Amino acid sequence: MAHTKDGFQLLEHKEYPQEEMLERAKRLFLQANERRTVREFSDRTVAKEVIELVLKTASTAPSGANKQPWNFCVVTNPDIKAIIREAAEKEEYENYHGRMSEDWLDDLKKFGTDWHKPFITTAPYIIVAFKKTYDLNAAGEKEKNYYVNESVGLACGMLINAIHHAGLVTVTHTPSPMNFLQKVLERPENEKAFLLLPVGYPAEDAAVPVISRKELEDMSVWYE
Ligand SMILES: Cc1cc2nc3c(=O)[nH]c(=O)nc-3n(C[C@H](O)[C@H](O)[C@H](O)COP(=O)(O)O)c2cc1C
Repeated sequence: MAHTKDGFQLLEHKEYPQEEMLERAKRLFLQANERRTVREFSDRTVAKEVIELVLKTASTAPSGANKQPWNFCVVTNPDIKAIIREAAEKEEYENYHGRMSEDWLDDLKKFGTDWHKPFITTAPYIIVAFKKTYDLNAAGEKEKNYYVNESVGLACGMLINAIHHAGLVTVTHTPSPMNFLQKVLERPENEKAFLLLPVGYPAEDAAVPVISRKELEDMSVWYE
């Protein structure tokens, strides 16, 4: 009988026949390739259970020493959304009027973005991902987290994919600097805002910029 060391369990692993493996990989690629960042939202409601599930998917991400150094704040309260929008637009106004370099503004032209962020109040859900720079144990002592940016970035990537998979849309928003989010949402000192993700349905006439994705040969190097 198979036995494992203390603290270990046998891996539950699913293997697929070659053809099915290829089919699965292709299907996921085609689906992922349909994902677009959407900046025009409908105010249609979304079932809370779906949001709970996409967050649970995000939280399956690998993390340094399994510290899972993330916390997702889910905002549906219209008053809080309005406060966040006002603060985000204040920062973004400064960004678009002096803080961003000419090159940066040039690179953003094709997205048609400016300092107005109506999606923060239109989308039914605003998820603010926080990174936990350290943890506090039950005794209130600091405990280290590792590779915090990498870990939270991975969790957010999985979240974005799960949102798309559910047939919803989001925009990866970075209203820099983001420290106002820690204050507005009354998060403790060890939590720093990482990304703001409005989630919902796209507006009926939502349009997205025409962009292209790198070809395999431009984004991978093979040593065979
Ligand atoms: C870290 C990061 C920050 C971003 N910040 C913003 C942002 O503040 N506002 C915005 O409209 N889009 C933002 N985006 C979205 C990108 O512009 C978008 O992902 C990119 O143009 C590719 O388009 P796609 O997501 O439709 O493939 C951000 C994306 C990432 C990964």
